[in-house]
Amino acid sequence: MLNTLKQVLAVSGVSGNEHNIAKTIEEMVGPYVSTIKTDALGNLIAIKEGKAGGKRVMLAAHMDQIGFVVTDINDKGFLYVTNVGGFAPEAFLGKVVTFTDGLQGVVSSKAPSRGPADGKITMEDVYIDIGTSTRAESEAKVKLGDTACVAHQLVVNGTRVSAPTMDDRAACAVLIEVLKAAAKPNKTIVAVFTSQEEVGIRGAAVSAFAEQPDEGIAVDVTLAGDTPDAKPRMAVSLGKGPAIKIMDRASISTPYLRDALIKICEDGGMAYQREVLPFGGTDAGAIQRSRAGIPAVTISIPCRYVHSPVETVDLADLDDCVKLILGYVNQ
Ligand code: CO
Ligand code: ZN
Repeated sequence: MLNTLKQVLAVSGVSGNEHNIAKTIEEMVGPYVSTIKTDALGNLIAIKEGKAGGKRVMLAAHMDQIGFVVTDINDKGFLYVTNVGGFAPEAFLGKVVTFTDGLQGVVSSKAPSRGPADGKITMEDVYIDIGTSTRAESEAKVKLGDTACVAHQLVVNGTRVSAPTMDDRAACAVLIEVLKAAAKPNKTIVAVFTSQEEVGIRGAAVSAFAEQPDEGIAVDVTLAGDTPDAKPRMAVSLGKGPAIKIMDRASISTPYLRDALIKICEDGGMAYQREVLPFGGTDAGAIQRSRAGIPAVTISIPCRYVHSPVETVDLADLDDCVKLILGYVNQ
Protein backbone atom coordinates (compact mmCIF):
# COMPACT_ATOMS: atom_id res chain seq x y z
CA MET A 1 0.00 0.00 0.00
CA LEU A 2 2.73 2.50 0.91
CA ASN A 3 4.44 2.00 -2.46
CA THR A 4 1.21 2.52 -4.39
CA LEU A 5 0.46 5.58 -2.29
CA LYS A 6 3.91 7.05 -2.91
CA GLN A 7 3.48 6.67 -6.68
CA VAL A 8 0.15 8.50 -6.81
CA LEU A 9 1.21 11.21 -4.34
CA ALA A 10 4.26 12.17 -6.39
CA VAL A 11 2.30 13.35 -9.45
CA SER A 12 0.41 16.64 -9.48
CA GLY A 13 -3.05 17.33 -10.92
CA VAL A 14 -4.86 20.51 -9.99
CA SER A 15 -8.56 20.36 -10.96
CA GLY A 16 -8.94 20.48 -14.74
CA ASN A 17 -5.31 19.45 -15.26
CA GLU A 18 -5.49 15.80 -14.28
CA HIS A 19 -3.74 14.40 -17.39
CA ASN A 20 -0.43 13.56 -15.67
CA ILE A 21 -1.95 11.71 -12.70
CA ALA A 22 -4.44 10.01 -15.05
CA LYS A 23 -1.53 8.67 -17.12
CA THR A 24 0.25 7.38 -13.99
CA ILE A 25 -2.87 5.57 -12.73
CA GLU A 26 -3.64 4.20 -16.19
CA GLU A 27 -0.18 2.57 -16.27
CA MET A 28 -0.68 1.16 -12.78
CA VAL A 29 -4.14 -0.40 -13.27
CA GLY A 30 -4.07 -1.15 -17.02
CA PRO A 31 -2.84 -4.75 -16.59
CA TYR A 32 -5.62 -5.57 -14.12
CA VAL A 33 -8.74 -4.39 -15.99
CA SER A 34 -10.60 -5.31 -19.18
CA THR A 35 -11.43 -1.76 -20.32
CA ILE A 36 -9.67 1.52 -19.65
CA LYS A 37 -10.62 4.88 -21.14
CA THR A 38 -10.80 8.61 -20.54
CA ASP A 39 -13.72 10.94 -21.25
CA ALA A 40 -14.21 14.57 -22.25
CA LEU A 41 -13.88 15.83 -18.66
CA GLY A 42 -10.66 13.91 -18.03
CA ASN A 43 -12.12 11.10 -15.92
CA LEU A 44 -10.16 7.83 -16.09
CA ILE A 45 -12.56 4.88 -16.21
CA ALA A 46 -11.26 1.34 -15.56
CA ILE A 47 -13.69 -1.55 -15.78
CA LYS A 48 -13.31 -5.04 -14.36
CA GLU A 49 -16.10 -7.38 -15.45
CA GLY A 50 -17.90 -9.37 -12.79
CA LYS A 51 -20.05 -12.49 -13.04
CA ALA A 52 -22.99 -12.47 -15.45
CA GLY A 53 -26.06 -10.89 -13.85
CA GLY A 54 -24.00 -9.18 -11.13
CA LYS A 55 -24.56 -5.53 -10.29
CA ARG A 56 -22.48 -2.79 -11.86
CA VAL A 57 -20.85 -0.78 -9.06
CA MET A 58 -19.15 2.54 -9.69
CA LEU A 59 -16.22 3.15 -7.34
CA ALA A 60 -15.16 6.80 -7.42
CA ALA A 61 -11.93 8.37 -6.17
CA HIS A 62 -11.02 11.85 -7.32
CA MET A 63 -7.65 12.46 -8.97
CA ASP A 64 -7.73 16.23 -8.80
CA GLN A 65 -6.28 18.34 -6.02
CA ILE A 66 -6.67 21.90 -4.79
CA GLY A 67 -4.20 24.54 -5.99
CA PHE A 68 -3.59 28.03 -7.29
CA VAL A 69 -4.30 29.55 -10.71
CA VAL A 70 -2.48 32.62 -12.02
CA THR A 71 -4.82 35.62 -12.47
CA ASP A 72 -2.30 38.38 -13.21
CA ILE A 73 1.41 39.24 -13.24
CA ASN A 74 2.63 42.56 -11.84
CA ASP A 75 5.40 44.87 -13.08
CA LYS A 76 7.98 43.30 -10.77
CA GLY A 77 7.16 39.79 -11.97
CA PHE A 78 5.11 38.59 -8.99
CA LEU A 79 2.22 36.26 -9.82
CA TYR A 80 -1.22 37.03 -8.46
CA VAL A 81 -3.36 33.96 -7.95
CA THR A 82 -6.73 32.70 -6.88
CA ASN A 83 -7.78 29.35 -5.49
CA VAL A 84 -8.88 26.27 -7.42
CA GLY A 85 -11.05 24.45 -4.89
CA GLY A 86 -11.76 25.70 -1.39
CA PHE A 87 -9.03 26.25 1.20
CA ALA A 88 -7.64 28.73 3.71
CA PRO A 89 -4.75 30.55 1.98
CA GLU A 90 -2.79 30.93 5.23
CA ALA A 91 -2.25 27.16 5.26
CA PHE A 92 -0.03 27.54 2.19
CA LEU A 93 2.02 30.64 3.07
CA GLY A 94 5.75 30.02 3.11
CA LYS A 95 5.33 26.89 1.00
CA VAL A 96 6.98 25.86 -2.24
CA VAL A 97 4.62 25.35 -5.17
CA THR A 98 5.14 23.47 -8.43
CA PHE A 99 3.60 24.34 -11.80
CA THR A 100 2.49 21.63 -14.23
CA ASP A 101 5.74 21.95 -16.23
CA GLY A 102 7.88 21.61 -13.09
CA LEU A 103 8.65 25.31 -12.51
CA GLN A 104 8.79 26.06 -8.77
CA GLY A 105 7.99 29.19 -6.79
CA VAL A 106 7.25 30.28 -3.24
CA VAL A 107 3.97 31.50 -1.77
CA SER A 108 3.90 34.67 0.29
CA SER A 109 1.48 37.42 1.23
CA LYS A 110 1.35 40.99 2.46
CA ALA A 111 2.11 39.75 5.99
CA PRO A 112 3.28 36.16 5.85
CA SER A 113 4.14 35.67 9.51
CA ARG A 114 1.04 37.02 11.21
CA GLY A 115 -1.42 37.97 8.52
CA PRO A 116 -3.07 41.38 8.35
CA ALA A 117 -4.23 43.10 11.53
CA ASP A 118 -7.55 41.27 11.52
CA GLY A 119 -5.70 37.96 11.47
CA LYS A 120 -7.30 36.82 8.26
CA ILE A 121 -5.49 36.39 4.95
CA THR A 122 -7.58 36.42 1.80
CA MET A 123 -6.58 35.22 -1.65
CA GLU A 124 -6.14 38.90 -2.67
CA ASP A 125 -3.18 39.11 -0.26
CA VAL A 126 -1.39 36.09 -1.71
CA TYR A 127 1.25 36.05 -4.44
CA ILE A 128 3.82 33.66 -5.87
CA ASP A 129 7.49 34.59 -6.38
CA ILE A 130 9.22 32.67 -9.17
CA GLY A 131 12.54 34.49 -8.84
CA THR A 132 11.94 37.06 -11.56
CA SER A 133 12.21 40.88 -11.52
CA THR A 134 9.99 41.97 -14.41
CA ARG A 135 6.65 41.12 -15.94
CA ALA A 136 8.35 40.09 -19.21
CA GLU A 137 10.63 37.65 -17.39
CA SER A 138 7.64 36.02 -15.67
CA GLU A 139 5.57 35.95 -18.85
CA ALA A 140 8.36 33.94 -20.49
CA LYS A 141 7.83 31.23 -17.84
CA VAL A 142 4.18 31.38 -16.81
CA LYS A 143 0.92 32.25 -18.54
CA LEU A 144 -2.24 33.62 -17.05
CA GLY A 145 -4.37 30.56 -16.18
CA ASP A 146 -1.45 28.25 -15.38
CA THR A 147 -1.99 26.20 -12.21
CA ALA A 148 0.35 25.31 -9.36
CA CYS A 149 0.06 23.05 -6.35
CA VAL A 150 2.09 22.72 -3.17
CA ALA A 151 5.33 20.82 -3.85
CA HIS A 152 5.36 17.12 -3.07
CA GLN A 153 6.77 16.09 0.30
CA LEU A 154 6.29 12.91 2.26
CA VAL A 155 6.67 12.05 5.94
CA VAL A 156 6.30 8.43 7.11
CA ASN A 157 6.09 7.86 10.87
CA GLY A 158 5.23 4.21 11.40
CA THR A 159 1.80 3.71 9.87
CA ARG A 160 1.08 7.45 9.75
CA VAL A 161 1.82 9.16 6.44
CA SER A 162 1.65 12.89 5.69
CA ALA A 163 1.69 14.56 2.26
CA PRO A 164 -0.06 17.47 0.52
CA THR A 165 -2.34 15.38 -1.68
CA MET A 166 -3.83 12.65 0.52
CA ASP A 167 -7.14 14.21 -0.55
CA ASP A 168 -7.80 12.19 -2.56
CA ARG A 169 -4.80 10.17 -3.70
CA ALA A 170 -5.20 8.01 -0.59
CA ALA A 171 -8.49 6.85 -2.12
CA CYS A 172 -6.90 6.47 -5.57
CA ALA A 173 -4.37 4.11 -3.93
CA VAL A 174 -7.24 2.18 -2.29
CA LEU A 175 -9.01 1.72 -5.64
CA ILE A 176 -5.79 0.66 -7.35
CA GLU A 177 -5.25 -2.01 -4.68
CA VAL A 178 -8.89 -3.13 -5.05
CA LEU A 179 -8.44 -3.56 -8.82
CA LYS A 180 -5.23 -5.53 -8.27
CA ALA A 181 -6.77 -7.81 -5.63
CA ALA A 182 -10.21 -8.45 -7.15
CA ALA A 183 -9.37 -11.41 -9.36
CA LYS A 184 -12.90 -12.45 -10.31
CA PRO A 185 -15.37 -10.14 -8.57
CA ASN A 186 -19.05 -11.04 -8.42
CA LYS A 187 -20.07 -7.47 -9.20
CA THR A 188 -18.69 -5.52 -12.15
CA ILE A 189 -16.33 -2.81 -10.92
CA VAL A 190 -16.49 0.50 -12.76
CA ALA A 191 -13.56 2.31 -11.12
CA VAL A 192 -13.69 5.99 -11.96
CA PHE A 193 -10.71 8.15 -11.07
CA THR A 194 -12.68 11.35 -11.28
CA SER A 195 -11.73 14.86 -12.38
CA GLN A 196 -12.77 18.23 -10.95
CA GLU A 197 -14.20 17.03 -7.61
CA GLU A 198 -12.72 19.95 -5.72
CA VAL A 199 -14.53 22.50 -7.90
CA GLY A 200 -17.98 20.91 -7.58
CA ILE A 201 -18.01 17.10 -8.15
CA ARG A 202 -18.09 17.65 -11.92
CA GLY A 203 -16.25 14.59 -13.24
CA ALA A 204 -18.37 12.21 -11.16
CA ALA A 205 -21.55 13.77 -12.53
CA VAL A 206 -20.76 13.03 -16.18
CA SER A 207 -19.12 9.63 -15.60
CA ALA A 208 -22.04 8.38 -13.49
CA PHE A 209 -24.42 9.47 -16.26
CA ALA A 210 -22.39 7.76 -18.99
CA GLU A 211 -21.57 4.53 -17.17
CA GLN A 212 -25.07 3.97 -15.74
CA PRO A 213 -23.97 2.03 -12.66
CA ASP A 214 -26.54 0.25 -10.46
CA GLU A 215 -24.83 1.66 -7.38
CA GLY A 216 -22.07 4.08 -6.49
CA ILE A 217 -19.44 4.11 -3.76
CA ALA A 218 -17.33 7.25 -3.42
CA VAL A 219 -14.06 6.90 -1.55
CA ASP A 220 -12.74 10.15 -0.13
CA VAL A 221 -10.96 11.52 2.90
CA THR A 222 -12.91 12.97 5.80
CA LEU A 223 -11.80 15.25 8.60
CA ALA A 224 -10.59 13.47 11.70
CA GLY A 225 -11.71 15.01 14.98
CA ASP A 226 -8.82 13.70 17.06
CA THR A 227 -6.43 16.69 16.97
CA PRO A 228 -6.14 19.59 19.48
CA ASP A 229 -7.45 22.06 16.89
CA ALA A 230 -10.32 19.92 15.62
CA LYS A 231 -13.79 21.33 15.27
CA PRO A 232 -16.12 20.14 18.05
CA ARG A 233 -18.43 17.17 17.53
CA MET A 234 -16.20 15.44 14.99
CA ALA A 235 -16.19 11.81 16.04
CA VAL A 236 -13.90 10.23 13.43
CA SER A 237 -10.36 9.19 14.48
CA LEU A 238 -7.27 7.98 12.62
CA GLY A 239 -6.54 4.27 12.87
CA LYS A 240 -10.05 3.19 13.86
CA GLY A 241 -11.08 1.93 10.45
CA PRO A 242 -13.04 3.19 7.44
CA ALA A 243 -15.71 5.77 8.24
CA ILE A 244 -19.03 4.81 6.67
CA LYS A 245 -20.80 8.03 5.88
CA ILE A 246 -24.34 8.57 7.07
CA MET A 247 -24.51 12.07 5.57
CA ASP A 248 -22.71 15.27 4.64
CA ARG A 249 -23.96 18.38 2.84
CA ALA A 250 -23.97 16.77 -0.63
CA SER A 251 -25.62 13.43 0.07
CA ILE A 252 -27.47 11.25 2.52
CA SER A 253 -26.13 7.75 1.97
CA THR A 254 -28.67 5.29 0.61
CA PRO A 255 -29.63 3.31 3.74
CA TYR A 256 -29.42 -0.23 2.32
CA LEU A 257 -25.90 0.41 0.96
CA ARG A 258 -24.68 1.98 4.20
CA ASP A 259 -26.12 -0.97 6.15
CA ALA A 260 -24.60 -3.53 3.76
CA LEU A 261 -21.14 -2.05 4.36
CA ILE A 262 -21.64 -1.98 8.13
CA LYS A 263 -22.75 -5.62 8.05
CA ILE A 264 -19.59 -6.66 6.18
CA CYS A 265 -17.49 -4.99 8.89
CA GLU A 266 -19.48 -6.48 11.76
CA ASP A 267 -19.63 -9.99 10.28
CA GLY A 268 -15.91 -9.93 9.50
CA GLY A 269 -14.87 -8.40 12.82
CA MET A 270 -13.42 -5.39 10.96
CA ALA A 271 -12.99 -1.95 12.46
CA TYR A 272 -15.28 0.79 11.16
CA GLN A 273 -16.67 4.13 12.26
CA ARG A 274 -19.95 5.88 11.55
CA GLU A 275 -19.59 9.37 10.12
CA VAL A 276 -21.76 12.47 9.97
CA LEU A 277 -19.93 15.44 8.45
CA PRO A 278 -21.70 18.75 9.06
CA PHE A 279 -20.18 20.28 5.90
CA GLY A 280 -18.57 19.26 2.62
CA GLY A 281 -19.47 16.58 0.15
CA THR A 282 -18.05 13.84 -2.05
CA ASP A 283 -18.57 12.37 -5.51
CA ALA A 284 -21.44 10.34 -4.00
CA GLY A 285 -23.53 13.52 -4.16
CA ALA A 286 -23.19 13.65 -7.95
CA ILE A 287 -23.60 9.90 -8.49
CA GLN A 288 -26.75 9.74 -6.36
CA ARG A 289 -28.48 12.47 -8.39
CA SER A 290 -27.49 11.10 -11.79
CA ARG A 291 -30.24 10.03 -14.23
CA ALA A 292 -33.30 8.89 -12.25
CA GLY A 293 -31.23 8.50 -9.07
CA ILE A 294 -28.52 5.95 -8.24
CA PRO A 295 -28.09 4.43 -4.75
CA ALA A 296 -24.82 5.80 -3.37
CA VAL A 297 -22.67 5.83 -0.26
CA THR A 298 -19.27 7.19 0.75
CA ILE A 299 -16.48 5.24 2.42
CA SER A 300 -14.32 7.86 4.11
CA ILE A 301 -10.65 7.62 4.94
CA PRO A 302 -10.01 9.44 8.25
CA CYS A 303 -7.56 12.28 7.57
CA ARG A 304 -6.03 15.01 9.69
CA TYR A 305 -5.35 18.55 8.38
CA VAL A 306 -7.44 18.16 5.20
CA HIS A 307 -6.66 20.88 2.62
CA SER A 308 -3.24 21.66 4.07
CA PRO A 309 0.28 20.65 2.94
CA VAL A 310 0.42 17.92 5.61
CA GLU A 311 -2.73 15.86 5.14
CA THR A 312 -2.20 12.79 7.35
CA VAL A 313 -3.68 9.29 7.17
CA ASP A 314 -3.07 5.92 8.82
CA LEU A 315 -2.09 3.10 6.43
CA ALA A 316 -4.14 0.62 8.47
CA ASP A 317 -7.31 2.56 7.58
CA LEU A 318 -6.40 2.39 3.87
CA ASP A 319 -5.87 -1.39 4.09
CA ASP A 320 -9.22 -1.76 5.87
CA CYS A 321 -10.94 0.27 3.14
CA VAL A 322 -9.56 -2.16 0.53
CA LYS A 323 -10.87 -5.14 2.52
CA LEU A 324 -14.29 -3.55 2.94
CA ILE A 325 -14.68 -2.75 -0.77
CA LEU A 326 -13.47 -6.23 -1.76
CA GLY A 327 -16.01 -7.68 0.64
CA TYR A 328 -18.75 -5.73 -1.10
CA VAL A 329 -17.81 -6.40 -4.74
CA ASN A 330 -17.36 -10.11 -3.99
CA GLN A 331 -20.82 -10.42 -2.40
CO1 CO B 1 -10.82 17.97 -0.92
ZN1 ZN C 1 -11.54 14.84 -1.52
